[in-house]
Amino acid sequence: MFRIMYMSTATRVIPDSELEELLETSRKNNKEKNLTGLLIVKGRTFLQCLEGEKKDVEEIFNKILKDDRHTSIIDLIEEDISSRMFPTWDMGYKNLKIVDDIKSEKIRKISSIDDFDIKKEDIAEVIQEFIAYD
Ligand SMILES: Cc1cc2nc3c(=O)[nH]c(=O)nc-3n(C[C@H](O)[C@H](O)[C@H](O)COP(=O)(O)O)c2cc1C
Repeated sequence: MFRIMYMSTATRVIPDSELEELLETSRKNNKEKNLTGLLIVKGRTFLQCLEGEKKDVEEIFNKILKDDRHTSIIDLIEEDISSRMFPTWDMGYKNLKIVDDIKSEKIRKISSIDDFDIKKEDIAEVIQEFIAYD
């Protein structure tokens, strides 16, 4: 199996209703391909993790790369994996708009920075904290 994580920037402010639609489509498609993952949104920044069979991850990722709702896609991680981080999530979703709701100190700190500047080596930890604390 294979995992991709990337960050990107929305090309415009995407209303919550449109994000909900995007999630609905993603969950449907991902379920069909047995892909799991997580999408974190902070303002105009996306952080997404996708995991599953390599060809399926790459196929969806190629679609995502062409999506004009976002740009400046930075590939953070591409790796072979033996187990999933999010085995039960077609696409977990967290919008970091309401920072006070987040219990993890580290995530609160990252969320309060406008640019959502995560270091590559911190990503796994940040995501784990999401799962553990919120
Ligand atoms: C930040 C971001 C994350 C996305 N994540 C997914 C995803 O996990 N799965 C998916 O199928 N589409 C995802 N999309 C949407 C795809 O780019 C594309 O619009 C969609 O797969 C088209 O689906 P359709 O062919 O069923 O209409 C994402 C788009 C953006 C902007």
